[in-house]
Amino acid sequence: MIVVFLLCVVAGMPASGHILDVCATCHPDAKCDDKPDGRGKVCNCKYGFVGNGITFCQDKDECQIGAMKICGQHTKCHNTYGSYDCTCLSGYNPSNNMIIFIPNDGTHCQDIDECRITGLCGDGGRCRNLDGSFECSCQVGYQVEDGTEPFHPHRDKASCKVVDCGQPALVEDTVLLSATGTTYGSVATWVCDEGFIWGSGHNTSVCGADGLWSGPTMVCEEVDCGSPPARPHSQMLWNKSSRVGSEVVYRCNSGYHNVGKGNVSSCTAAGQWEEPLVLCQDIDECRITGLCGDGGRCRNLDGSFECSCQVGYQVEDGTEPFHPHRDKASCKVVYCGQPALVEDTVLLSATGTTYGSVATWVCDEGFIWGSGHNTSVCGADGLWSGPTMVCEAKCGPVPFLANSEVVWHNRSVVNHRCVDGYHSWRGSSVSVCGSSGTWQTATLRCIEIKPAISHVHFLNEKCVHWKAEKYEEDSEDYRVTYTGTRDYQRSFRDEMKQYLSSKAEELKLCLHLLPATNYSISITALSARFTASITTNTSVPEPPVPVVYYREFETPVPTLRLTRSANSLDPISLYQVLVLPVEDIMVFDCSSPGSTDPLSKNNFSSEYITAQILIGQVGTQMDFTVGDGLYYGGFYNAPLKKGRTYYIILRAVSQWKTTLKSSCVLWAKVTGTSYVLMVSSLSAAAAVGLVAFAILVGYSCIWLFKNT
Ligand SMILES: *[C@@H]1O[C@H](CO)[C@@H](O)[C@H](O)[C@H]1NC(C)=O
Ligand SMILES: *[C@@H]1O[C@H](CO)[C@@H](O)[C@H](O)[C@H]1NC(C)=O
Ligand SMILES: *[C@@H]1O[C@H](CO)[C@@H](O)[C@H](O)[C@H]1NC(C)=O
Ligand SMILES: *[C@@H]1O[C@H](CO)[C@@H](O)[C@H](O)[C@H]1NC(C)=O
Repeated sequence: MIVVFLLCVVAGMPASGHILDVCATCHPDAKCDDKPDGRGKVCNCKYGFVGNGITFCQDKDECQIGAMKICGQHTKCHNTYGSYDCTCLSGYNPSNNMIIFIPNDGTHCQDIDECRITGLCGDGGRCRNLDGSFECSCQVGYQVEDGTEPFHPHRDKASCKVVDCGQPALVEDTVLLSATGTTYGSVATWVCDEGFIWGSGHNTSVCGADGLWSGPTMVCEEVDCGSPPARPHSQMLWNKSSRVGSEVVYRCNSGYHNVGKGNVSSCTAAGQWEEPLVLCQDIDECRITGLCGDGGRCRNLDGSFECSCQVGYQVEDGTEPFHPHRDKASCKVVYCGQPALVEDTVLLSATGTTYGSVATWVCDEGFIWGSGHNTSVCGADGLWSGPTMVCEAKCGPVPFLANSEVVWHNRSVVNHRCVDGYHSWRGSSVSVCGSSGTWQTATLRCIEIKPAISHVHFLNEKCVHWKAEKYEEDSEDYRVTYTGTRDYQRSFRDEMKQYLSSKAEELKLCLHLLPATNYSISITALSARFTASITTNTSVPEPPVPVVYYREFETPVPTLRLTRSANSLDPISLYQVLVLPVEDIMVFDCSSPGSTDPLSKNNFSSEYITAQILIGQVGTQMDFTVGDGLYYGGFYNAPLKKGRTYYIILRAVSQWKTTLKSSCVLWAKVTGTSYVLMVSSLSAAAAVGLVAFAILVGYSCIWLFKNT
């Protein structure tokens, strides 16, 4: 030991010879570790060894505690020097796929699924995995042989064999068509035997797991086509057999022939008769011309024909319809005989005397065609039609009438008409050719048309004048109607009718027309059917004044009275009351309008209107008080001055548009001084003989005299 130590010094470094190196003393199967407290070193046996670490470290048998504990389930434990390892039992596999393993990385043994290897159980075998092993049994359709189920193919002799059903059985009325084999799952197919047809059930059979054929359930029945189908207009030749292959023959009835593609049908394996191709069609005998004889008409019937006679022919020795082979009947042409004679005509030609013959006539000499047809035809009824021709005597050219024209003519009749501007005056307008050959001429006269009434005018607002235009000395009847209307009086209507009968050429009729009215007047000449009209208007006349009773008053508020009767001018009329202060000589003009306001006049010397009253507001009687200080129709009825003298005048005014007419009457005198009124027309007043002043009332005068 010392030697070793020395060698160490020589080799490397100076060392203190008294320190013991523990690590140098460790057993080869030990390792040198630091002490847990950090003061010095210690030798410990390596993993897998047990001992003191210096003199002895011995291998440990880990498997001792049992493979199950140290290696896990389904393992085998193997001890090695200083360690151990594990392997899996047969039927198991380590999870890391290494043959040897140590479970400290989680490796363990798991069951192997042997059934993943196909064919392990042999043909028809079914593998079942067990924990660490497997077993076999047989699939459906297979059965175990030389053993029992379950079996192990490596251990037992047993194996699976497929089930065999053997040859399929025979089935009545059928034939085995095919079979895929005789073992389990094989399919056999049957068909019905010849002459048989499928009735019910399945036509296949299958080899079952029990080794038996299932079915077939098919039942085949013998084919029966029944009665063959009938076809129109034909008979069937058939031996009543309805088996497969039986035949039927069709034959067309008399009068029919087969236009189809065949005449035989047979019973097919499907149990049905073939569609018969026979087609029996009527024979058209009428295509043969002359079958019904001359004049006969053939008519085809279903399977036969018949004859009748054409128009112009009639049946003989029988009746229609007839059959030429069976009956004696035949057709004979119709005969009309000689054409008849026609008045004033000559037979020109005839094509014969039988049906359809044509005869032609012409007019006899001295005659001319008037109307109708000139031919005649022998009809189917055996009679000549017509002729409808009428011949008339010749009259020569159409007669002429003055101022007329011919509207229409046909050699024997002429229609005349007056030309424009003329009209017919009596007589007939037709000329006729007489049987003697001369014209009976129309008696019509054409006269120039002039208005029956002319020069209509109205004179003096009273009478209407006109001139008459007449064709003969006859008197004419006139009707005069007139209608009056007024714009200012909508309800107004003045209608009258007057008649007048006269031979005169200058006529006059005076009418009673109302004033201030528009009139429309019409005059009708009744026989000439002519009307003339004019319009006229009547003027506005002076209106009538009411009846007043002249009085004299001492009071300055006199009440006056008037009495009136209704007048047709009332709608455009009014009353004005005028006050006339009396001054020396004065002239009053009724047509002057008069002052509207008495106060505007300084000296009250001239007249003024003190009231205006619409006539519509006045009854048959009215009282009016002068100077009551009220307004009347916009005029101030001013009080009268005491001690003055006034005349009160009543003025009636009618006005329409620009025409104004008035008339005045002296109504009263209000006395302040003593004046005397005298009206020239009153002889009593004239007798007073006073100095006068004049008042003009309208166009006549009222004379007033002042007492001086
Ligand atoms: C068997 O029957 C089926 C229907 O049931 C049919 O389609 C098939 O054609 C039949 N086979 C024969 C060979 O008749
Ligand atoms: C001419 O017309 C008249 C009246 O329509 C008639 O009666 C007459 O038969 C006609 N004459 C001729 C020849 O057509
Ligand atoms: C008469 O007729 C004329 C024209 O239509 C019209 O202006 C006038 O007012 C009428 N006169 C009357 C009284 O109706
Ligand atoms: C008729 O009315 C017209 C205007 O419409 C006038 O000129 C004529 O004087 C009037 N005649 C009479 C008679 O009033």
